[in-house]
Amino acid sequence: MADIVNAFPLSIYRDTLAIDPQLKAGMVAIALEMGQVRRRPSKGRSWTGDVHGYGFLHQYHRFAELFAVFSEHLRQYLDFLKIDPDKLRLYYTRSWATVSQGQERIAPHRHRLSHISLVYYLKKPANSGGIRFMDGDAPNQFAPALFGEEMLKQGIVKELGLLNTTSITLQPKEDDVCIFPALTKHATEPNLSDEPRVSIAVDIVTTVRDSDVLELMLPDLDRWAPAS
Ligand SMILES: [Fe+2]
Repeated sequence: MADIVNAFPLSIYRDTLAIDPQLKAGMVAIALEMGQVRRRPSKGRSWTGDVHGYGFLHQYHRFAELFAVFSEHLRQYLDFLKIDPDKLRLYYTRSWATVSQGQERIAPHRHRLSHISLVYYLKKPANSGGIRFMDGDAPNQFAPALFGEEMLKQGIVKELGLLNTTSITLQPKEDDVCIFPALTKHATEPNLSDEPRVSIAVDIVTTVRDSDVLELMLPDLDRWAPAS
């Protein structure tokens, strides 16, 4: 009997948070107010606070409770990957709201300057679009574009599933949080509802608490010194 061993997975952590509705309403209001500030053209693209002067929500008093909850989930994410959270320090380096309305969406991108990415759905009306994760170099794809739509159309690939795909779309609900490696390419579907979709995106950098005998990973910030 043949056996298949699945290896080299991409794991996306997902859970639903229970944030006080009044606190949430306050954060939604702040995000929507920030979203009024348009510093650069963004036709069809969602408003993202990181490029509009609002890139550090983790420093806002009104968001403190939410980021404390994120910290708990980040520990669980590390635990899932069998990484000892006590050996690392995690830093919120950038965090911002995204506001998508009128079919706006977020184009494919990676968070290249981070280690871990987190997204939380502060306001997520029905039909406001899912999040798509992509891996054009999926290890099982033994010929270029084998798992693309054309191959499916031509009948060369009979059906796509988790083991023969280069993308997966999740349909998070309001209050859901997703955590994934920051280098994972991702994008959102357009918001097809009449209400805005509001999410919080967070960049996280990890360091090791004790780097004395380690060549890999960043030493902790308390070992750094400004060079300019
Ligand atoms: Fe992103």
